[in-house]
Amino acid sequence: MSEIRLENISKSFKRVEAVKSLSFSVKHGELVVLLGPTGAGKTTTLRLIAGLETADSGSIYIDGRNVTNLQPAERDVAFVFQQYSLYPRYTVFDNLAFPLRSPLRNLNKGEIKEIVHRVAQTLHIEDKLRNKATQLSGGEMQRVAIGRALVRDPNIFLMDEPLSSLDAKLREELRLELKNIQVKLGATILFVTHDHIEATTMADHIGVLKEGELVQFDTPDEIYNNPNSIYVAQKLGSPKINVISSNQLDAGIPADAEFIAFRPENVTLGSSGLLKAKIETIQNLGVEKIVSLSLSGETVRALVKPDVTLNLDDDIHVDIPREDIMFFDKNSERVYP
Ligand SMILES: Nc1ncnc2c1ncn2[C@@H]1O[C@H](COP(=O)(O)OP(=O)(O)O)[C@@H](O)[C@H]1O
Ligand SMILES: [Mg+2]
Repeated sequence: MSEIRLENISKSFKRVEAVKSLSFSVKHGELVVLLGPTGAGKTTTLRLIAGLETADSGSIYIDGRNVTNLQPAERDVAFVFQQYSLYPRYTVFDNLAFPLRSPLRNLNKGEIKEIVHRVAQTLHIEDKLRNKATQLSGGEMQRVAIGRALVRDPNIFLMDEPLSSLDAKLREELRLELKNIQVKLGATILFVTHDHIEATTMADHIGVLKEGELVQFDTPDEIYNNPNSIYVAQKLGSPKINVISSNQLDAGIPADAEFIAFRPENVTLGSSGLLKAKIETIQNLGVEKIVSLSLSGETVRALVKPDVTLNLDDDIHVDIPREDIMFFDKNSERVYP
């Protein structure tokens, strides 16, 4: 079993509260994504779990063992950094073999070779084993960096935006592969990113971070369909969720609702409906169109099928099923009808 549990972990750097009373768990075999913008405390959280930083307060448990005051080497976690940290002069083989050559491991050459080949095969870099690290593309380097974590077969993997320096296509490819490997190995992974697509496609649970605080921890579905604040609602989905003033609606609004929000895919456009609007721009994406509308000065986006014919400046009605409308108060917290 491998499991991470944080209990009220806080960490400040001088006056910056990087992590504020953080509590959550990553269960055995689960991939949890911490999602948040730059400065939200993602890297600090990983460094605290790895033992590269010391918490000001709170406790960290790995497999039920309190590791809060243990050295990094005593925690059996592997860290994949945002920037690939390979030995440039070494071959791919030696980069992968390096963690296995520690005297503590007591492995012979044949065993090391076998592990390196198995991991290289998993990551599709078998034909690169003789290359120097400098003779690799960005995507290959990051595979090797992930491979260096895999060969160690640790209890826990901590991954700090490992795909963020890759181009879009490679990122998509590698995130699918990484998810497959995680499922196949039953690995326990805490993965941090600011990329909402990585979060939804890879995570069993997503923790949304805001300025060092965990504001929601849930399955990707729940985070998407049932966000507890506008901040969380805006984290997932493209185009972003629509947020407009609640006085655009005349009825059925909870007393303390200041804002209403609804997803672009739940909007239908037609000759009748809840709200009157004017079409401002139409973006044709092939499989769908993104229509921007003006609603008494506020902008709303609708995602519609490409065969819907619409014209700029058309007066049109926006319709949203009641059950797809969410309400938020003046502090942007969710309120229910
Ligand atoms: N070693 C440090 N010294 C001072 N401030 C730091 C240090 N590490 C992180 N911080 C600050 O803590 C906050 C969280 O940083 P970080 O955990 O790196 O965020 P993220 O990885 O989400 O971008 C930021 O305001 C950052 O400037
Ligand atoms: Mg970071």
